[in-house]
Amino acid sequence: MAKRVALVTGAMGGLGTAVCKALAQNGFTVAANCLPGFAPKDEWLAKMKSEGFDFFVAEADVTDYDACAAVVKKIESEIGPIDVLVNNAGITRDSMFKKMDKGQWDAVLSTNLDSVFNLTHHVLPGMADRGWGRVINMSSVNGVKGQFGQANYAAAKAGILGFTKSIAAEVAKKGVTVNAIAPGYIGTDMVMAIKQEVRDAIVSTIPVGRLGKPEEIGALCAYLASDLAGYMTGATLNINGGMHFC
Ligand code: CAA
Repeated sequence: MAKRVALVTGAMGGLGTAVCKALAQNGFTVAANCLPGFAPKDEWLAKMKSEGFDFFVAEADVTDYDACAAVVKKIESEIGPIDVLVNNAGITRDSMFKKMDKGQWDAVLSTNLDSVFNLTHHVLPGMADRGWGRVINMSSVNGVKGQFGQANYAAAKAGILGFTKSIAAEVAKKGVTVNAIAPGYIGTDMVMAIKQEVRDAIVSTIPVGRLGKPEEIGALCAYLASDLAGYMTGATLNINGGMHFC
């Protein structure tokens, strides 16, 4: 049987890299998305190669609906139909709401939420027609509970949860599952960019006493992409070191 194909958006960041590796280790051919002209792409690919991973690069701006259509077409013609879509691309533009400008709001909503529509819309019909598929949306603990300084990010990540549950219901009979992962604070560049004193205060509220590891999210993603996860759909998987229970 041909290997299944997974598309991971925002593949070259901290979480994306761990997700690509976990899916490859679990038998998927992985298309790794990044922005066109993403400067560290070649360095990232070389590092992955040195670790034994060979990823197909799928450049596209995920905020651009037509560019998403084109990249899906390219992947499907060059490596095969997309069986697993991981909507992982995300940015932060943290600011207290009173100081947040429209640009900070728009950037986060388009990258973190519109992107999920833009890709899922092009991939889901094929999954449903073939009778098997997995859509995995990267939300956040802050989409579940809200966060001081993240009105834009929390709104987008909460939007993902509503999207996930709605689409899950629409394709449940077609062999396609749609789930959201809500990671807590994981040791990636995004979290390390928070001012140290603010970050230390946040870490002090995490019951397990540490940041999460990207590979802990990758492993959960690999599970959701597996055949055995076929009975789980519309779920929000909270993985946050006990920071927030719901
Ligand atoms: N609750 C209540 N009050 C808070 C607070 C909180 N969580 N955080 C800060 N404050 C208070 C501060 O004590 C301060 O009060 P005073 O003026 O009385 O001293 C006031 O709010 C202003 O705080 P800052 O000095 O931090 O303000 P700033 O403008 O320099 O920075 C900020 C604002 C950028 C939002 C900064 O507070 C920050 O980075 N916060 C963390 C936001 C965060 O958690 N981002 C997550 C990024 S990682 C990610 O998003 C991945 C994921 O999915 C988890």
